Amino acid sequence: MPAQVIDGKAIAAQVRNEVRMAVDRLKAQGVTPGLHVVLVGDDPASAVYVRNKGKASEEVGIAGVTHHLPAETSEADLLVLLRELNASPGVDGVLVQLPLPKHIDANRITDAQDAARDVDGFHPVNLGLLLSGRDGLVACTPAGCMRLIDSTGIDLAGKRAVVVGRSLIVGKPMALLLMQRNATVTVCHSRTQDLKTRVSEADIVVAAIGKARMIKGDWIKPGAVVIDVGMNRGDDGKLCGDVDYAAAAEHAGFITPVPGGVGPMTIAFLLRNTVLACAARRGLSNPF
Ligand code: GUN
Repeated sequence: MPAQVIDGKAIAAQVRNEVRMAVDRLKAQGVTPGLHVVLVGDDPASAVYVRNKGKASEEVGIAGVTHHLPAETSEADLLVLLRELNASPGVDGVLVQLPLPKHIDANRITDAQDAARDVDGFHPVNLGLLLSGRDGLVACTPAGCMRLIDSTGIDLAGKRAVVVGRSLIVGKPMALLLMQRNATVTVCHSRTQDLKTRVSEADIVVAAIGKARMIKGDWIKPGAVVIDVGMNRGDDGKLCGDVDYAAAAEHAGFITPVPGGVGPMTIAFLLRNTVLACAARRGLSNPF
């Protein structure tokens, strides 16, 4: 039986709807959440992402502000802006779009952010909280993947989950979130031997490696949940994920398409994080 398609677009719309209602509850208390996105330089892909983040904020009632700085902005000047934002009471979320120009040390920028406003969940404090199993801001893409997995209704306890990719932004937090839900987690990466065997054992596969169609369809355990974080340009010039979708859909129980799977979840969870940060910073109860 072919897999059920996990409709990321529809689930993201649902999350944005929940955010809109939460924003309305905050507004009834006299609070409008504010999200500030910082873009340095003119990378065209980043410009599109940032524009989409601004639009999505507006649609749910979040006050979105974009700070577009020239490519030659110094690290010192960027740090000055971050300190200003950190000292502004109306700023609830701050996101510095990556990648940054080479002359800026991204770690120094992340460290300078206020963890309470770090809606990307990249600050060491938020990563440490996640590692400790404590409440903090969780990176948007892995949080979105968890929501997609939950949409299948599968109980993760005791299941075998394989995360392919060990990045700080997706792979590592993803593994921690799955572990928190009592899955048995294996993290695979570019040096893993016999990736095929590891993947074939998995009840849940999360692919976040950035290599077009690297995970083959016949590797997938019958009935498994397949979450594809990849966004690549295939040899055929088409947008595709890290999983060979058509073949994997013959084996999986549930699978996310590319595009229309994980992609739309990231911005939805950015908005959700902004509302959570807003309420926590201002000492209000969780509006969700
Ligand atoms: N560039 C690509 N993805 C992201 C993201 O999730 N956050 C930030 N800040 N930059 C990105």
